[in-house]
Amino acid sequence: MRIILLGPQGAGKGTQAARLSERTGARHISTGDLVRAEIKAGTELGRKVQEYNDRGELVPDEIIVEMAKPHLREAGSWILDGFPRTEAQARALDEALEELGVGLDRVVALEAPDEVLVRRLSGRRQSEATGRIYHLEHDPPPPDDPGPFVQRKDDTEEAIRRRLRLYHEQTEPLKGYYAERGLLATVDATRSIEEVTEELLRVLGVGA
Ligand code: AP5
Ligand code: ZN
Repeated sequence: MRIILLGPQGAGKGTQAARLSERTGARHISTGDLVRAEIKAGTELGRKVQEYNDRGELVPDEIIVEMAKPHLREAGSWILDGFPRTEAQARALDEALEELGVGLDRVVALEAPDEVLVRRLSGRRQSEATGRIYHLEHDPPPPDDPGPFVQRKDDTEEAIRRRLRLYHEQTEPLKGYYAERGLLATVDATRSIEEVTEELLRVLGVGA
């Protein structure tokens, strides 16, 4: 299975990709996680991408494409979360897939209005121990996750607003790009985490 989860910040791409990965065995590839891992490791690349990340801006296409490529090559079956995010990235992905001789099965857009997204992002916490994503109200951390539970640098009100604006300007048009290719499906992401997973499995034709 090779799919893309498209959607605005807080729609639940990371949450759903992790759950789909558990159910299907496909690898969860998140370019946001790759960016945060480089920053944490303090590499030269990490220093380069940190400013963009912390301000809620997009990392330049060439850098993000180079970061994603080796992962596409390694895993036969994957769920892309947060990539592609611009038309240039979508074209680069098409080229990379052509080189690998494989195609995309489906592109699923998770949809929710901005007010819902802002509420979700301000309550988001991530476990430093397990990397799991939680929400203070909707999905609180279980007792067996030792934490600590931290807030992301880009989950400030200002960065959230900037990320949503960039999404509408640069990423949302990709829905048209994939609809033209007959690959797009949309899922209402305002429902509960479990309901959205069930709908995704249905759309992807994976047995529950
Ligand atoms: P990235 O990490 O991808 O961040 P993002 O796009 O801002 O998306 P989020 O992770 O905020 O949202 P999500 O949809 O994954 O939501 P989540 O599941 O966590 O990218 C970070 C940065 O890296 C970018 O700003 C950029 O700088 C750089 N970058 C990455 N990729 C790039 C690219 N391709 N090009 C250029 N730059 C790139 O859920 C959010 C919260 O809601 C959680 O608390 C969760 O528990 C809760 N929640 C989820 N679903 C539900 C539900 N159904 N009901 C109730 N609560 C829910
Ligand atoms: Zn995410």
